[in-house]
Amino acid sequence: MTAPPVTCVLSADAAATAEAVRRLAAGGLVAFPTETVYGLGADAGNGKAVARLYEAKGRPAFNPLITHVVDVAAARALARFNADAARLAETFWPGPLTLVLPKAAGCPVADLATAGLDSIAVRVPNHSVAQKILSAFGKPVVAPSANRSGHVSPTTAAHVLADLRGRIDLIVDGGSTAVGVESTIVACLDEPALLRPGGTPRDAIERALGRPLAQAPGSAASADEIPLAPGMLASHYAPRTPLRLDASGIRAGEALLAFGPKLAESSESAVRVLNLSERGDLIEAAANLFSHLRALDSAGANAIAVMPVPHEGLGEAINDRLVRAAARR
Ligand code: TXA
Ligand code: MG
Repeated sequence: MTAPPVTCVLSADAAATAEAVRRLAAGGLVAFPTETVYGLGADAGNGKAVARLYEAKGRPAFNPLITHVVDVAAARALARFNADAARLAETFWPGPLTLVLPKAAGCPVADLATAGLDSIAVRVPNHSVAQKILSAFGKPVVAPSANRSGHVSPTTAAHVLADLRGRIDLIVDGGSTAVGVESTIVACLDEPALLRPGGTPRDAIERALGRPLAQAPGSAASADEIPLAPGMLASHYAPRTPLRLDASGIRAGEALLAFGPKLAESSESAVRVLNLSERGDLIEAAANLFSHLRALDSAGANAIAVMPVPHEGLGEAINDRLVRAAARR
């Protein structure tokens, strides 16, 4: 375990932007204002940074995160836009609207940030500080609201500090946020559907689309931490191959998802072995979780044996996902 970070607070200016970029590039966690609420940013392409972000928020589960980019062109490198999505982006970006879209081939965002899903939530924030950081960093930034899990979203730097002091590297203070509620989330996967009401009113979206939005059953309503019900739009990623949890040895035809330096018995007979973290590091394990599951899912095994993962820290969220994946059959 590394030492907890000392949280630095800087007033938004050119030096703060440069420091934010330096921290993000080093895998650090940087809170910054958007027009809705303060976001807690991490390099979207760095799985370990994303794992640290979940740990800092104390999320008990890996809910998928929103990826923030500087403009529509940058968003198009991450996701596929149908005609509805293109219309909404053109009308409302930059602004408090998040679009859930099919991930583009070669999308550089870490699997952990999208919780292993084939869709991605993208938004272009309308705040000069957020814009400057995204533009100077030049890469996508994932940013959930900068609060501890279960707490209300922060609209000032002081709120962020109260919740996350000693857990994140930097807070860029840009005053209070104007909108004060999170972005509206609309999925454009088939018929456009409202997943979360927020800063862009539904009727404005429906006017732009020229038709009503579907209400996604089981959608997150106003509780931004609650993922969509399984089986709905954001249904959790689950491998097709059955999972066998808490495995201490390998059975015929199984692949092994290992954890720690000591492999399960007869692991040499496994169809394929991938280790979440040889060092037993839960941050590394979280960063590898979804990509390893996907790789083992395509290994042609009749089951994936999963070694026990400790329940402390990020282990709680890792076990949450493993249990769901094992139950989804
Ligand atoms: O205004 C906002 O949107 C703020 C600022 C910081 O940008 N961010 C924010 O993020 O509210 P967060 O992580 O607190 O909420 C993200 C929401 C969650 O409800 C999550 O389930 C949903 O987005 N989400 C993310 N990816 C998704 C996906 N692929 N499918 C469905 N829902 C998704
Ligand atoms: Mg939130």
